[in-house]
Amino acid sequence: MKVGVFDSGIGGLTVVKSLLQHRLFEEIIYFGDTARVPYGSKDKNTIIRYAIEAVEFFKNFELDLIIVACNTVSAYALQEMRESATCPVIGVVEAGILATANALRDRNSNVLILGTKATVNSKAYEIGLNKLSFTNVQAKATPLFVQLVEEEIFSGEILEAAFRHYFSDMETPNALILGCTHFPLISKALSNYFGEQTLLIHSGDAIVEYLESEFSFYRKYTNPKLQFFASENPEALRTIARKWLYEN
Ligand code: DGL
Repeated sequence: MKVGVFDSGIGGLTVVKSLLQHRLFEEIIYFGDTARVPYGSKDKNTIIRYAIEAVEFFKNFELDLIIVACNTVSAYALQEMRESATCPVIGVVEAGILATANALRDRNSNVLILGTKATVNSKAYEIGLNKLSFTNVQAKATPLFVQLVEEEIFSGEILEAAFRHYFSDMETPNALILGCTHFPLISKALSNYFGEQTLLIHSGDAIVEYLESEFSFYRKYTNPKLQFFASENPEALRTIARKWLYEN
């Protein structure tokens, strides 16, 4: 299978990392819209327009599947992408909701969703979780974490100050949905802050769980072909990909 992975920028590499760990695809084509990131502060119509442009870009590759690694795009534009694509399109929000439901039996569990402003405003996670009978769901926009991760700040004082800024009045959740591509990179620091008992839901692992439940994979690909494209400075994307995918 040949898959396209779309993100607003570099963050979707966290999803590619999970795909590589599980060796599901023979070929992965990544497109990051680095010229226009962040999407998380943009409005719905803009996000949809950019997402449809990404579908057009992927039409050059005869893909079997498009994975939307970006939570913001998954929250707003999946339907429109499906309408213009010639292959199936799946997104991390739906996968994250199902992974949460599979992991938590108790529907009264306290679930905290972290995401961009746009993802939180969309209420996409809450609506999906409420449909599955979750009653105690909250969401918090934490856009500072995107900036910190882009600066490769994955631990330390500045990050802890940001945790206090966002979380000082919050109860410890039973599950924390990392509803933004960048947040898996600070998952260790988040676990230290909330404690080991808080379950972290990672979009990359969630999408793998979803793929394995929806599609049949007959073989593992140990050496998939990877191609990285970006709307601005693709070389910078390739450099960060080498680091995040193979060094951390
Ligand atoms: N990729 C975005 C997401 O997962 C985060 C960065 C952005 O705001 O574009 O929501």
